Amino acid sequence: MQENILVIGSSGQIGSELVLELRKIYGNSSIIASDIIPSSDEIISSGPFEILDVTDSKKLLEVVKKHDISQVYLLAAILSANAEEKVNLAWSLNMSSLFNVLNLAKERVIRKIFWPSSIAVFGPNTDKINTPQFAITEPNTVYGISKLAGERWCEYYFNKFNVDVVSLRYPGLIGWKSLPGGGTTDYAVEIFHEAIKNKKYNCFLKKDSTLPMMYMSDAINATLNIMTTEAKNVKIRSSYNIAGVSFSPKEISDEIQRNISEFSITYTPDFRQKIADSWPNSIDDSRAQKDWKWKAEFDLPKITSDMLKNLTAN
Ligand code: NAD
Ligand code: SER
Repeated sequence: MQENILVIGSSGQIGSELVLELRKIYGNSSIIASDIIPSSDEIISSGPFEILDVTDSKKLLEVVKKHDISQVYLLAAILSANAEEKVNLAWSLNMSSLFNVLNLAKERVIRKIFWPSSIAVFGPNTDKINTPQFAITEPNTVYGISKLAGERWCEYYFNKFNVDVVSLRYPGLIGWKSLPGGGTTDYAVEIFHEAIKNKKYNCFLKKDSTLPMMYMSDAINATLNIMTTEAKNVKIRSSYNIAGVSFSPKEISDEIQRNISEFSITYTPDFRQKIADSWPNSIDDSRAQKDWKWKAEFDLPKITSDMLKNLTAN
């Protein structure tokens, strides 16, 4: 069956990579990129692109009909650190975007949705080590509350309206092709840019603040994997835990120093420290491993050498 896929939020950290991967699989003309701001030249020159505000349900329907869309990857959101500074906007964007897309599937205008959740659904009362799939979810950030509510609505729309929506709780994502958009884990991308440019980095988290992270190619593989898994094997319709690698600023800095010996790091924790302190150190993703054979490939040394190699070359 011909699939026309709409990616909403194609100018962001994940969208700028996911669109190109989807175009390799389904063909350039079948993947419609969209955002409120222009996407990369590579995206705009290789296939269709629409300026689209996902909170405008009328325009969303227009774009979906114009391109005969069957699947939507909804990536537009305000991330954890920015959300603490734009509380109302974050809540309204993160929720209304999801409802607008879920309702298109409920009305059978589209047939399938990918919507990412986050490790931010966990909170200070969650067991931090190997946090299980069904752990306590009492987030204390605007972003985490919106992701938890989103998970509940996804499961509700699946149970009540048979909407085929799938979701992953991404950890902090690290990639060289795109910059992060205002999260608490952004330091793990910034550190590589600064290591190459200035040989030093001032980190906004404490040296021992361990968080779950994942390389972008693993995150994209997981996303494509769950979107193509037979519906009967997707047993969790809220959102799956997925794990890559866990490390602290000190550990990533040590790994960079193994590659760039002059590199040095300082620590000036800011308001993002409190957010990081509320999140798990590591994630148990055994349900994803069992249900759809998920496994991450990149550990910290592999991430570090790939980031340094590609950022230096580009
Ligand atoms: P990002 O901030 O880099 O990109 C979001 C994009 O959405 C931006 O290009 C922005 O212009 C666009 N956008 C904002 N408002 C919009 C609107 N009204 N209509 C259309 N587009 C709009 O975010 P990202 O890192 O690419 O994250 C994508 C998704 O993955 C989000 O739901 C995020 O919560 C989730 N996630 C990301 C990470 C991570 O580490 N990057 C981790 C966990 C979950
Ligand atoms: N990387 C994201 C953030 O820090 C986690 O969802 O906001």
